Amino acid sequence: MSVLPIHLLGSPVLREASAPVVEVTDAVRQLVDSMYETMDAAEGVGLAANQIGQAIRIAVVDAEGARIAMINPVIAEASGKAGEEEGCLSIPDVYAEVTRPERIVLEATGRDGKPYRLEADGLLARAIQHEIDHLDGILFLDRLSPLKRRLLVRKYRREHKEGESLLREVARPSGRTG
Ligand code: CO
Repeated sequence: MSVLPIHLLGSPVLREASAPVVEVTDAVRQLVDSMYETMDAAEGVGLAANQIGQAIRIAVVDAEGARIAMINPVIAEASGKAGEEEGCLSIPDVYAEVTRPERIVLEATGRDGKPYRLEADGLLARAIQHEIDHLDGILFLDRLSPLKRRLLVRKYRREHKEGESLLREVARPSGRTG
């Protein structure tokens, strides 16, 4: 297991549509474990494989007491509508209210290779949808109005100059509890 660098806005892999996982091998399980470790170190509620440079359909989420690995995830059902503020480990310091379905049913394969179904709402449903978007090359900015998106991208570009690394090294947390 290792904490992996996170790809930032502008890195092409964030725009790639990820390939399905054919089989849950040891390599897949190791990747899942490293993704958990990276998510925890970055203090995120979710992380998609694109964000660590691999365009394959794997994501992890830790929200509202649920800590899940999603391999080949799909939203089987969606209902309602809710707007809440979102951010993204690949777009540091940018936050905006995003409207998404409020309740979802997730179907995915777990780290153990077994398919599962999960009903979710609130932050968990939001995090799951945000991560599945990543696997399709979609960022939360794409879910905003064009005007709002332009404003936020401009703000981000001001703070992250051209030529700056598109990789973010995440420090392993030391002595963090809980
Ligand atoms: Co994100």
